[in-house]
Amino acid sequence: MLKSNDACWCGSGRKYKRCHKADDQLVKPGIVSPGRPVPPEIPRPPYADTGEPPRWSEPLVKSPDVIARMRKAGRAAAEILEIAGRAVAPGVTTDEIDAVVHEATIERGGYPSPLNYRGFPKSVCTSVNEVICHGIPDDRPLRDGDIVNIDVTIYLDGVHGDTNATFLVGDVDETSKRLVRVTRECLERGIAAVKPGRPISDVGKAIQTHAESYGFEVIRAFVGHGIGEQFHGDLQIPHYYDPRATTIMEPGMTFTIEPMIAIGTWQHTLWPDGWTAVTADCSRVAQFEHTILVSDDGAEILTRAD
Ligand code: MF3
Ligand code: CO
Ligand code: CO
Repeated sequence: MLKSNDACWCGSGRKYKRCHKADDQLVKPGIVSPGRPVPPEIPRPPYADTGEPPRWSEPLVKSPDVIARMRKAGRAAAEILEIAGRAVAPGVTTDEIDAVVHEATIERGGYPSPLNYRGFPKSVCTSVNEVICHGIPDDRPLRDGDIVNIDVTIYLDGVHGDTNATFLVGDVDETSKRLVRVTRECLERGIAAVKPGRPISDVGKAIQTHAESYGFEVIRAFVGHGIGEQFHGDLQIPHYYDPRATTIMEPGMTFTIEPMIAIGTWQHTLWPDGWTAVTADCSRVAQFEHTILVSDDGAEILTRAD
């Protein structure tokens, strides 16, 4: 846990409380505009109007038909994330990114899965600097030196595709750049650990080993998840070594791997909005996510653009 009087992690030589932990450096709740309308002809997931996803025990191993549809949804999610990433620049608000994601999603005939999922108010999650995940797009303009995660999920053809990446805004300090690179590598290592016949705990073991070799910590409260016809299925994929994750991976299983890695502590607090999770010491976090399919000898990444 970073302390206020410690030297700032950025290497400026100033105290943390006078540098990146200063009040004007921390992300604050902004003004959230109304959710954007989805054209009536676009098929909606079952929670779109109620906010409550009905839970049912979806098979962990998907049928060939579901897998075919998930390949399409995954590719669409990857394209949308790429488009959203191109919109990132100093001065652009996270609400403008929400608009870009929303439009790109309905252009592909899809519904933006976050919209009204358990009451989430917008079409995408945007998580800046010390925000771990589930940041709500608002009127805050991105600043030179920020890092921002954009987490895109599309509901297309009755299934979800879920992917995210962390982008650099303008000129970013070396420590944050290393954090972003190492987190991308953590996702790659997690994917490389996917093997039929092996327990799910292998994934987190590979991720944790890599993150901690750089002195970074793995967020525990948010984990990867089963995905398919439901946004969040029964499987849980911890990004740290958890010996209780004993489920054996089998060809045809689909889940996300989405490590969140912090410069400082893995512990978190929640904003009063009930969504925005921030690190307890306000240190920065990066995240990358793919939806993957367990294949006969490893993993197929479904959220890959052509
Ligand atoms: N896309 C996120 C994930 O990776 C979930 C967002 S839920 C929302 O699981 F309601 F915040 F959109
Ligand atoms: Co996601
Ligand atoms: Co996810």
